[in-house]
Amino acid sequence: MRKKLVAGNWKMHGSLQANQRLVEAVREGAAPLRCDVALCVPFPYLAQVSGLLSASTLGLGAQTVSEFGQGAYTGEVSVAMLKEFGCRYVIVGHSERRTLFGETDQVVADKCVAALAGGLLPIVCVGETRLERESGQTQEVVSRQLAAVLSAVGVAGLANLVIAYEPVWAIGTGLTASPAEAQAVHAAIREQVAALDAGRAATLQILYGGSVKPQNAVELFAQADIDGGLIGGAALVAEDFLAICQAAN
Ligand code: PGA
Repeated sequence: MRKKLVAGNWKMHGSLQANQRLVEAVREGAAPLRCDVALCVPFPYLAQVSGLLSASTLGLGAQTVSEFGQGAYTGEVSVAMLKEFGCRYVIVGHSERRTLFGETDQVVADKCVAALAGGLLPIVCVGETRLERESGQTQEVVSRQLAAVLSAVGVAGLANLVIAYEPVWAIGTGLTASPAEAQAVHAAIREQVAALDAGRAATLQILYGGSVKPQNAVELFAQADIDGGLIGGAALVAEDFLAICQAAN
């Protein structure tokens, strides 16, 4: 039985005051849960949230990381820096990073390599656009994105890595892949890994992301190959985020 993980992706939201209220509420509500819960917050708030989460079982994560070590990379943040602030997770290759900030499959793969080497657990996002889905390219796109990561980290690297299937058309739109649509892609991801290593495929956590809400979480998380969620908008409302965590419990 794979353990479920619910990770909140705050994106570029938050303030010192709002974070404190949100994290305190989530920390309290999530304490009795058996599933893993993580909060992926903007860089400037890592120290604050790390402090608020100390002595709790909730995991801390960042939303991206540099593929480089220290050096002349103005504006970038390294794996070692995230580790110093208590991060366990880092989201890699979110569709907003891919489309707005030009991250290619290769860059995403390089970031995964750096994260794994430094002891961070990457949550690697894959997913097709609406156009790609409508033209029947979903499996091809997801498979290509996954293959780039696999060829960089090797199937053994998947032991410390989580995949998040996030159809781009479902992110922040209120449109969700139906449980059956999501399950089909999750199963295909697992099959692609199983072709290399059946044991690794069986233990790989594959999260679903894209307009997960308290109203649809139970049905999504009940699918055989959906092992939790990557939650954007609903992660900013303690009540909603906790209800989604409950659904994974
Ligand atoms: P959403 O975002 O839940 O607001 O759709 C998910 C994500 O982008 O990770």
